[in-house]
Amino acid sequence: MNKAVRKAVIAGNWKMNKTRPEAKALLEELKPMVADVKDVEVVACVPFTNLETALAATAGSNIKIGAENCHFEKSGAFTGEISADMLAEMGVEYVVLGHSERRQYFNETDETVNKRTKAALAAGLKPIVCVGELLWERECNITEEVIARQIKLDFYDVSAEDLKKCIIAYEPVWAIGTGKTATADQAEEVCAFIRATLAKLYGADVAEAITIQYGGSMNAGNAAELVSKTNVDGGLIGGASLKAADFTTIIKAAVNG
Ligand code: PGA
Repeated sequence: MNKAVRKAVIAGNWKMNKTRPEAKALLEELKPMVADVKDVEVVACVPFTNLETALAATAGSNIKIGAENCHFEKSGAFTGEISADMLAEMGVEYVVLGHSERRQYFNETDETVNKRTKAALAAGLKPIVCVGELLWERECNITEEVIARQIKLDFYDVSAEDLKKCIIAYEPVWAIGTGKTATADQAEEVCAFIRATLAKLYGADVAEAITIQYGGSMNAGNAAELVSKTNVDGGLIGGASLKAADFTTIIKAAVNG
């Protein structure tokens, strides 16, 4: 395993939080705190309504901006939806796809995650594709089956070249917003399994180059141990990304990880 070939990525997932003035204030506070960070990619994935504000606030800085979803069609009669092209045209770089909250509350399936991933790639966005098992799936000892299925379906028909533009976020559903973090060993075990699954599908060199994040109650206190693991290349951070000091601590942990 060679962590040196991969850049750690710490991405905040703001979810449905922050008005525009609040978004600007948070990013303005964060900017100087992370200005000297070079070896870790810092990303803020924000609600659609905050994208323009966030792009303006972070212009010329080392903070990249992402959206939290996109639709899979290019345009048309899809009321309330946002296309990948619309995001790319704004200067958005990343997009979170297949988050468990989208799967749970908005009926997203691996099939639509796959379509969205391909649409995002076609528009030049970098997808952060989320996978993870439910608590009862872990208890039934089928975590690896669930994860392998999600990886195979979510990346169906995605070329090796395109896969290299993707980030995979391992987010055990039972750990999201619950305060229950997977132990560093649990996170490492599944992230290593994801890499092994990618190696079978795409070859070892491609698998070694993919950034695999952990997400689920990652915070200023537990980040260092999680990102020290060989196959954990950063994190997708919900709650703790809403506080500049906590998010910065996580980013600095990844610099040292
Ligand atoms: P959390 O959320 O850090 O608040 O658990 C993580 C996520 O949903 O990406």
